[in-house]
Amino acid sequence: MTETKMRVLVTGGGGFIGSHLARFLYLQGNYVRAVDIKFDDYIQEKYCAEKLQLDLRPWENCLTATKDVDKVYNLAANMRGIGFITTQGAEVMHDNVLINAQMRALSAPQGVRGRNADITLARNVLGWEPEVSLEKALAKTYRWIAEQCATDKSSALQ
Ligand SMILES: NC(=O)c1ccc[n+]([C@@H]2O[C@H](COP(=O)([O-])OP(=O)(O)OC[C@H]3O[C@@H](n4cnc5c(N)ncnc54)[C@H](O)[C@@H]3O)[C@@H](O)[C@H]2O)c1
Repeated sequence: MTETKMRVLVTGGGGFIGSHLARFLYLQGNYVRAVDIKFDDYIQEKYCAEKLQLDLRPWENCLTATKDVDKVYNLAANMRGIGFITTQGAEVMHDNVLINAQMRALSAPQGVRGRNADITLARNVLGWEPEVSLEKALAKTYRWIAEQCATDKSSALQ
């Protein structure tokens, strides 16, 4: 058991990594809320304090999911298998950028103390630093999505 008990949100908590992470945190004595658009039952026994079935693309659902939590582990991702992600790039990027950006934005206003990406260990041990700033990376990603949407639209018209 850890000394400090936290209220933790695991998004994608019905998926493979999310459910196993939720169980790990729950067994440490934390209050764990698992949120997912669907629950795949990877784990049969009780592995969290609370399960919420929510689509995290709408902003309001992200507000509900993050209410009163101290920390967010964001594992929600539109994946649906290799066939889907290799042919539906724009939809995959759209959903995942949206969910990631909203979860990131909600880290501060609702008092979340942690975020899903803590690079402290990589920085301290490996001397690792991101090569691209968050702002530049988001702008580049946004341009890429816009190009993909335009390509998808024009090929649908042909
Ligand atoms: N599995 C691996 O080997 C692996 C390796 C490296 C990184 N990752 C990353 O870890 C993350 C989770 O991977 P996973 O293997 O657990 O995938 P997964 O598909 O089992 O879990 C993702 C979960 O997100 C949920 N989700 C999708 N759209 C949602 C939405 N709109 N609202 C709420 N929930 C939604 C899905 O229902 C699913 O349960 C992904 O970002 C993945 O790229 C996975």
